[in-house]
Amino acid sequence: TPRHAADLIVFGGTGDLSMRKLIPALYHCDRDGRLADETRIIALSRGGLTDADFRGKVDAEARPVPQGEDDEGWQRFLRRLHHVSVDVGGSDRSGWGALSRLLAGYEDRDRVFYLASPPMTFGPFCREAHEAGLVTPRSRVVLEKPLGRDLASAQAINDEVGAIFDERQIFRIDHYLGKETVQNLLVLRFANAFLEPVWNSLWIDHVQITVAETVGTPGRRGYYDHAGALRDMVQNHLLQLLCLVAMEPPSRNDRESIRDEKVKVLQSLRPIVGSEVDRFAVRGQYTAGDGVPGYLDEPASTPPTEISHRVETYAAIRAEVKNWRWAGVPFYLRTGKRMPTRRSEIVVQFKDVPHAIFPGATPNRLVLRLQPSEGIHLLLMAKEPGAGDVTLRPVPLSLSFAETFQSRVPDAYERLLMDVMAGNPTLFMRRDEVEAAWRWIDPIIETWEGSGALPEPYPAGTAGPAGARELLARSGRTWHEEDL
Ligand code: BG6
Repeated sequence: TPRHAADLIVFGGTGDLSMRKLIPALYHCDRDGRLADETRIIALSRGGLTDADFRGKVDAEARPVPQGEDDEGWQRFLRRLHHVSVDVGGSDRSGWGALSRLLAGYEDRDRVFYLASPPMTFGPFCREAHEAGLVTPRSRVVLEKPLGRDLASAQAINDEVGAIFDERQIFRIDHYLGKETVQNLLVLRFANAFLEPVWNSLWIDHVQITVAETVGTPGRRGYYDHAGALRDMVQNHLLQLLCLVAMEPPSRNDRESIRDEKVKVLQSLRPIVGSEVDRFAVRGQYTAGDGVPGYLDEPASTPPTEISHRVETYAAIRAEVKNWRWAGVPFYLRTGKRMPTRRSEIVVQFKDVPHAIFPGATPNRLVLRLQPSEGIHLLLMAKEPGAGDVTLRPVPLSLSFAETFQSRVPDAYERLLMDVMAGNPTLFMRRDEVEAAWRWIDPIIETWEGSGALPEPYPAGTAGPAGARELLARSGRTWHEEDL
């Protein structure tokens, strides 16, 4: 059933994220009948577009289904779209006046401000929206990542936004939490009885979390030079996945219980500081390979600087959760651009059997595949058929979501946008979570930035620098799918 009418105001509404992710996700929600008829989507940007210009742009650039499919629905969706030019941080306040007129009379609706813009705009945007009288009791604000670039800047942004909005109105998005397999991880752990008794250091040898991407950073150097893999991926996406694997069972599935447990995991991470950084963290930067340029030669509006040489496009870290459940179990995290394949997965590797009577047994692995082809695979030892010697082979017990459920897997943004509209913050990050994650990341980045060394080069299309393999080899372990 359609929810009640809402106004969704997207700042950065003509930008990359909006056009690539938000607009298509909203269209799918509309198509599924999850937007009320009167719900409006209002894009804000600096460009002086009319509603008709913006609808034309979306029609040309962001149409998620081919011509001929659901034409009527697409036209109806386009009619929801509006555009207002707003200059945040500037002296011209006329845009805010135009937005006020569009919103006047709709104060009783849910009003969502979605800030798909760089983090330094979050504070000024909230302040100006407030000064324009647009922040109603039913307003919420969504903050895209990255939330700052270190703990201090994150705290400053949280303070600025917190001066206008209550914490319950603030939705810090991490789209990994909206992915189907990620939500399924919670169901797998807490709606099945057989896993939880072995989900600890007695039975688990280590955990690997991989987010490998084939894409590089063409046209993104301006952003990426000041981010790098640690800020762009590890501080948020990978640590959130780690939290869901490591957290204690919450007592309820409500807005605070799950977040309470996640923050405890972040607070239990063993700090990696000073000389330990070189031992437990590896960074790389891609060079030319596989027919594509290296990071420094990617098309960009400005030539590479000294900072560009230092930025990591690959990171691997050996993390530890210092608590009773996980004592001594390493969590290996790795993520990189220009890897040979796109693959995101969580691998839980169990220990060897306590007493082996068959030669050739390898430990069980539980693989949670986020993308591509979402699924869960449990690698079990089985006997190969035959009357001769007993030969063992790991065989997967597999669940493919696409085959089992035969339905379209919704994009993460669909679920998260609907959760914001419904006022459900469970899958969003609370202030203390974001800050705890920065607290752990900061010393690693500081050490890297203060060191004379550069990231290890790896050719595009290969599985990252040799150091990442050594990180595991030191303790006799290997990455699952070492070459991806
Ligand atoms: C974003 C990062 O948060 O996540 C990008 O800024 C990255 O650099 C993207 O490519 C990956 O998301 P997904 O859903 O494609 O795995």
